Amino acid sequence: MIGTGYVGLVSGTCFAESGNDVVCLDVDQAKVDLLNSGGVPIYEPGLEELVHRNSSAGRLTFTSDYADAIRGAKCIFICVGTPQDHEGAADLKYVRSAAETMAPYLDPGAVVICKSTVPVGTNRQVAAWIRSKTDTPFYSASNPEFLKEGAAIDDFTKPDRVVVGVDDEEAGEALHELYRPFLRTEKPFISMGIESAEMVKYAANCMLATKISFINEVANICDHVGADINDVRKGMGHDARIGFAFLFPGVGYGGSCFPKDVRALAAVAEANGVKPRILRTVDETNDAQKNILFEKLTEQLGDDLTGRTIAVWGLSFKPRTDDIREAPSLVLIERLLAAGATVKVHDPVAQENVRKQIGDVVTYCQHHYDACDEADALMIVTEWNEFRNPDFDYIKLKMKSPVIFDGRNLYDRRKMARRGFVYSGIGLAALPVDVESCTSDS
Ligand SMILES: NC(=O)c1ccc[n+]([C@@H]2O[C@H](COP(=O)([O-])OP(=O)(O)OC[C@H]3O[C@@H](n4cnc5c(N)ncnc54)[C@H](O)[C@@H]3O)[C@@H](O)[C@H]2O)c1
Repeated sequence: MIGTGYVGLVSGTCFAESGNDVVCLDVDQAKVDLLNSGGVPIYEPGLEELVHRNSSAGRLTFTSDYADAIRGAKCIFICVGTPQDHEGAADLKYVRSAAETMAPYLDPGAVVICKSTVPVGTNRQVAAWIRSKTDTPFYSASNPEFLKEGAAIDDFTKPDRVVVGVDDEEAGEALHELYRPFLRTEKPFISMGIESAEMVKYAANCMLATKISFINEVANICDHVGADINDVRKGMGHDARIGFAFLFPGVGYGGSCFPKDVRALAAVAEANGVKPRILRTVDETNDAQKNILFEKLTEQLGDDLTGRTIAVWGLSFKPRTDDIREAPSLVLIERLLAAGATVKVHDPVAQENVRKQIGDVVTYCQHHYDACDEADALMIVTEWNEFRNPDFDYIKLKMKSPVIFDGRNLYDRRKMARRGFVYSGIGLAALPVDVESCTSDS
């Protein structure tokens, strides 16, 4: 596995768990050292135990030495990052470096599989990069990864489907062998051309991002017309053509995939003379949605937040991960600070990553209740489970004013009104209220 991040480490560990000998390689020496000393560099539920079990059994090893990792390897998965470049397209510099560096060590007949999300044509380019450095014959394959952070092990070991793009039967068969243990419930192993497999990943992510931006827009309309998005969602979702998945409104999608993948497919479209109207709109809608909670807050409290204390619950881009790439929380925090607010935050696992990125400009609280101390408002950004049933009386006692802006619609607004909170969600059509008159004694 070349690249030991969210995808490489999870996939490598799961392949080791089914009995394969796996070497995980990374150029980040600190990461490799941490893994070799028994640490795990990312938070992913269940991963630590699996890593320990398989490394103790000798099936899972970590290195930064390409010769060590590639010599004798039958399958080589490229799992390095493909961030966006300055124009929004996929930046393939890590993929290229992996391809060129592995080339001299390839065994004849090895299968080089691109698991990183890459634009159509990249696998052929990877093969050309390798061929420019070696005459050793090898196979190329595309194997896009669909795991979700926060449920990555389950997704990998019980996939809805496995998609591979191959030119040769040998490469397809090698991949089928590897995935067979995870497909025992008759989930499909779908083999297709390399270009189609590359496209599947972008099309799937862009579809999901589109659903999110769509429901966010509907929720924003609900906010203005007295409709409740929860009811609307229920009424829509029972239509078998629509379904319920990915129809939860919120503060916009983030993470290392949807934002960059939507922009990368749009860039591919433009490079090929196709106008990506939907993709561009999805991206713009999402950027705007990341500001929605802040706008709701300033509507109530005014633009100048000097002297105000705001609590923020949830920093990771979604629950059960420490990943903060493109997280909506970062946009909110930046705007709160720019408006003069004092910001107190809590996240169960992502605080250290945020501190590394933005420093001590906010107060990091050990407990989510501590963030509420003397707060003028609480803003919920990530739907961690522990935020779902908090002690509302205690929160009310701690806050200066019992005001909640809920970016994930965790609570029932009628119950919140009965509990004495000024509560605002996304698309819940809350009645306008006078925040200033609402104190913790009210
Ligand atoms: N994170 C997800 O949920 C997810 C899901 C599906 C697909 N993907 C795709 O998988 C790819 C990897 O994503 P990730 O989230 O695991 O990234 P990541 O940033 O967590 O990990 C990438 C790793 O690759 C290493 N690396 C970079 N260049 C290298 C090189 N030349 N040789 C060896 N190692 C190198 C980095 O040090 C890093 O540890 C991306 O293309 C992403 O779009 C990600």
